[in-house]
Amino acid sequence: MRTATAIANANIALAKYWGKRAYAGNYPAVPSLSVTLAGLQTTTTVSFERSLSVDELMLNGVAQEGKELDRVAALLDRIRAVMLSPCFARVVSANGFPTASGLASSASGFAALAAASTRAAGLDVELDAVSDLARRSSASAARSVFGGFVSLDAGPIAVSNERLAAKMFAPADALDMHVLVCVVTEAAKTIGSTEAMRRTAKESSLYDAWLAVAPVQYASICDSLNRADFEALGRAAEASALTMHASAFAARIVYGTQSTFALLQSVRRLRDSGTLVFATMDAGPHVKVLVQSPNVAGVREQLVKSGHVLRVIDAQPCAQGVRFVDEDTR
Ligand code: DP6
Repeated sequence: MRTATAIANANIALAKYWGKRAYAGNYPAVPSLSVTLAGLQTTTTVSFERSLSVDELMLNGVAQEGKELDRVAALLDRIRAVMLSPCFARVVSANGFPTASGLASSASGFAALAAASTRAAGLDVELDAVSDLARRSSASAARSVFGGFVSLDAGPIAVSNERLAAKMFAPADALDMHVLVCVVTEAAKTIGSTEAMRRTAKESSLYDAWLAVAPVQYASICDSLNRADFEALGRAAEASALTMHASAFAARIVYGTQSTFALLQSVRRLRDSGTLVFATMDAGPHVKVLVQSPNVAGVREQLVKSGHVLRVIDAQPCAQGVRFVDEDTR
């Protein structure tokens, strides 16, 4: 039996990934850039055991079957394809943040799974290979393999099976920035991102516009980060989120609730009154507010006062990417 435990942090995209290349392998159709977040992590242990006749998955203490297990087994199959004597695995994974926190646990989850299973199989733990492996399960997970600000290119235009890994674009201290995660509901999201992307590509009259604009917004976000220009970065990040949601909207996919839109207005009002504050959202109703240190307390107070927030999680850039428990258990 071989066992390994890995930890990976959640990330939030500033330049959104939305849409995939038409060929197999889960290659993004647009480049993306995210920031890995401290304090929001998943710990995953993988044990390859001769005695098992199927893969087993325990998520936050609950045994999983169906889709969740199939997605994990698909990643393990890729590992088994290169193992000398392949066998099934027991996977135990736990999020150090509430699953209904509005932060995708699939990014930190698949990053930790890719690292732990690579090591448990006795393979070379090369971070590029781990990131590529994580991407094939969930593209945002490729980015959680690294700390700081992390980019992921779009997949090649022509059909490909080549390695596509994320890379660190800038260190965690490149910019003073907090992400205030405003949780607006405990309800599970209506439609998962994989299915929503498929529907957007198929049904949205704005999908081609999104594909044309996303790389331009990505370039502007990279440029703002290089200049440590928070205002320009925030504006472009908010534009990326709204453009992504507009493309989904046109396919009748609406993630926002009344509270989501009320919070977007609160952010705009704060900005109009002179505070540098911006909003972004993923495939869910929660609003993530980008703000710099001196404004955290004031903005947080206003957001809570709006009456539309169940709770606020204050997250900051994390320097660490994926790591193994025997190296670092933080
Ligand atoms: C809106 O990585 O969850 O959070 O590759 O199908 O698993 P799959 O999608 P996923 O999509 C994340 C979408 C997003 C934007 C982002 O994180 O870039």
